[in-house]
Amino acid sequence: MDYFNYKNNELYCEDVPVSAIAAEAGTPLFIYSKHTITEHFNQIKSAFGEIPLLICYSIKANGNLSILKVLKELGSGFDAVSIGEIKRALAIGADPRKIVFAGVGKSNEEIAFALDAGILMFNVESEAEVENINRIALQKGTVARIALRINPDVDPRTHKYITTGTRENKFGIDIQRAEDLIARLPEMPGLELKGLHCHIGSQITTVEPYESAAHKLIELYAKCQQSYPLEFLNLGGGFGIFYKEYEARPVSDFAAKIVPLIKASHCKLILEPGRYIVGNAGVFITQTQYTKRSGAHTFVICDGGMNDLIRPSLYQAYHRIWPVKSEIALGHAIAPEKRIKADVVGPICESGDFLGKERELPAVERGDLLAVFSAGAYGFSMSSNYNCRPRSVEILVDGDKWKLIRKRETCESIFANEIDLLK
Ligand code: LLP
Repeated sequence: MDYFNYKNNELYCEDVPVSAIAAEAGTPLFIYSKHTITEHFNQIKSAFGEIPLLICYSIKANGNLSILKVLKELGSGFDAVSIGEIKRALAIGADPRKIVFAGVGKSNEEIAFALDAGILMFNVESEAEVENINRIALQKGTVARIALRINPDVDPRTHKYITTGTRENKFGIDIQRAEDLIARLPEMPGLELKGLHCHIGSQITTVEPYESAAHKLIELYAKCQQSYPLEFLNLGGGFGIFYKEYEARPVSDFAAKIVPLIKASHCKLILEPGRYIVGNAGVFITQTQYTKRSGAHTFVICDGGMNDLIRPSLYQAYHRIWPVKSEIALGHAIAPEKRIKADVVGPICESGDFLGKERELPAVERGDLLAVFSAGAYGFSMSSNYNCRPRSVEILVDGDKWKLIRKRETCESIFANEIDLLK
């Protein structure tokens, strides 16, 4: 469910025509729908409504301050993976006691900063990190709240680059090692074990792997509970969304399996969804610069590419693409004379720079706008300045109003940090 719809042959975000925003803000651009964000957040909240729940929105999916603010107002906490993401959350006035901090490579500086900020807890990924956090906490004369990130060795059945919960991945601690580590924790007075954490992967479209990881964690939780008064079980993020068809399960299907388990173990649940909340709440709008033929191929060359939205290039991800203005309804059959089959590509000097391959589209002309759907998560947040291209603007729509929530970068702002070094 989202609030991007075609009315009178053109795409609207909520009540605003996308073409009107593009005319004023320029292209390429990301447009987000506030109502879609709110609705997805509330879907999770109500699906797990029967148990104590803290949703910690995963900032990495889309860290724009205005989006974080919307989520804070809905009651969300935050999942951060760097000092920068913690600072983003603090910048919008997030309650530090609703911030969890994960990541395999936390530096001393990041640990010290998070301790000073008073975050809810560290999701700790290795024995060496546990020892380091203990050392830094003792130096500061404080106690760090931690959850051990468990690697349950469960295959989430998603793309291999976004699989995190199997033994081959760098994330978390396997169950046996975790038990040994927990037995050693009394030697580390700078730490307070508050819970267990796992995140087995992202864009998970079936419930079974999630459920199987939850079972393993709950078993370990019950064992630990005998020696520690644990409070939290954190199952991470990972709920899948629609990219192509209706390929993902609704969050209520996950909740139906997880809620009874949590009820029985009397813990508080933390979830760290990112994509589920913002993924379908954003589109990427790009303008056709040229079309050309090469051999049997047709290329639609756009002003946005892999530097703006790297998911197709990096994960072979499929995002629906359709003209912003079209007499043919999104995804409907196109009469042969009105149809092209094309690779939709960007301006970047890489053959891997594409937004979609071999797409059947209504014929487009120079200047036409194209919408790339489901681009709200891991779109802007993974964008770069490759080829010295200023990153896109971002817009937030709320009903019939829209506002700029990130200005377009300039070339000068890209190289500003280098200028002094010329002198
Ligand atoms: N918690 C942890 C510890 C994570 O590592 C992640 C995502 C999340 C929560 C949020 O997962 P989500 O609910 O968004 O699936 N760039 C990739 C996705 C990378 C996900 C990394 N970790 C993509 O574009 O598909």
